[in-house]
Amino acid sequence: MRPPPVLALAGLCLLALPAAAAAASYFGLTGREVLTPFPGLGTAAAPAQGGAHLKQCDLLKLSRRQKQLCRREPGLAETLRDAAHLGLLECQFQFRHERWNCSLEGRTGLLKRGFKETAFLYAVSSAALTHTLARACSAGRMERCTCDDSLGLESRQAWQWGVCGDNLKYSTKFLSNFLGSKRGNKDLRARADAHNTHVGIKAVKSGLRTTCKCHGVSGSCAVRTCWKQLSPFRETGQVLKLRYDSAVKVSSATNEALGRLELWAPARQGSLTKGLAPRSGDLVYMEDSPSFCRPSKYSPGTAGRVCSREASCSSLCCGRGYDTQSRLVAFSCHCQVQWCCYVECQQCVQEELVYTCKH
Ligand SMILES: *[C@@H]1O[C@H](CO)[C@@H](O)[C@H](O)[C@H]1NC(C)=O
Repeated sequence: MRPPPVLALAGLCLLALPAAAAAASYFGLTGREVLTPFPGLGTAAAPAQGGAHLKQCDLLKLSRRQKQLCRREPGLAETLRDAAHLGLLECQFQFRHERWNCSLEGRTGLLKRGFKETAFLYAVSSAALTHTLARACSAGRMERCTCDDSLGLESRQAWQWGVCGDNLKYSTKFLSNFLGSKRGNKDLRARADAHNTHVGIKAVKSGLRTTCKCHGVSGSCAVRTCWKQLSPFRETGQVLKLRYDSAVKVSSATNEALGRLELWAPARQGSLTKGLAPRSGDLVYMEDSPSFCRPSKYSPGTAGRVCSREASCSSLCCGRGYDTQSRLVAFSCHCQVQWCCYVECQQCVQEELVYTCKH
């Protein structure tokens, strides 16, 4: 059996863990951490001490090899869990208006299929891990990596000025090892999963920005330090959602010259070419998705979903219609600035209509 998709799986583990434990690990700190000095950054929380991280690794659903890597890398288990949380939240945000809203609880059938949604899950998971790991390095939460030093002199200078670049180089290198690539003639699913995983990593890479800061007498910029900074994960999520919208359906073809299976996207109608390999930025899928209208092993259906009458009710409710409820919402009104210096408001109440999909 090939190893399970680590992050998608880590995401599921996150849901499986007792809520308290998940919340504690998400917020990371207990206040009792040993503080260690970090180059130019004052203090930062140390990774979990002693054998704590070994236990954390055992809690995650990882392959045997991944568990070994996890044990050797203090700080990684927490990073994995933070990444799973980040990936899941972003997925739910990007799909908040779709029939499938990324609610995975108890409905993991999707991970074993080849839908567009599966493709997105793989990509957003690997993107979240790439992002979180690079940040964890620069924030001093990992024992084996620190700030980005790939720019040579420039980033060294940045170090001295107390800025620490996000370590994407370490993150991607570690990740390709961690996710592992099995040799041999992978099947179509394995190829597609690996491809989509790579799309996620690439999306984070292409969002890397160089940020500079001026120093010198009254901002004269006599000295400038620059460092690499990841873009906010929301932007990566948006990129991946666009890729989902334009995902490419693939089938397989044996590459005779290489003697192995390749992904192959049939030509669009009216095109003269016979078909192409998908581009490295395309999300790929193999199966058309179900409608997600009714409860199934893939989704809870759309009954009870709140929709917008102008925009989404007709598609979200799948033609079953919607219920209209009115509710009163309080808001601040008639606000006045009082001398000095606060704003005084009254509470007003307004009626608001809420539309929810019928059962
Ligand atoms: C997704 O939709 C279901 C109803 O179909 C709802 O119960 C659930 O809370 C929604 N999840 C999110 C994250 O919005």
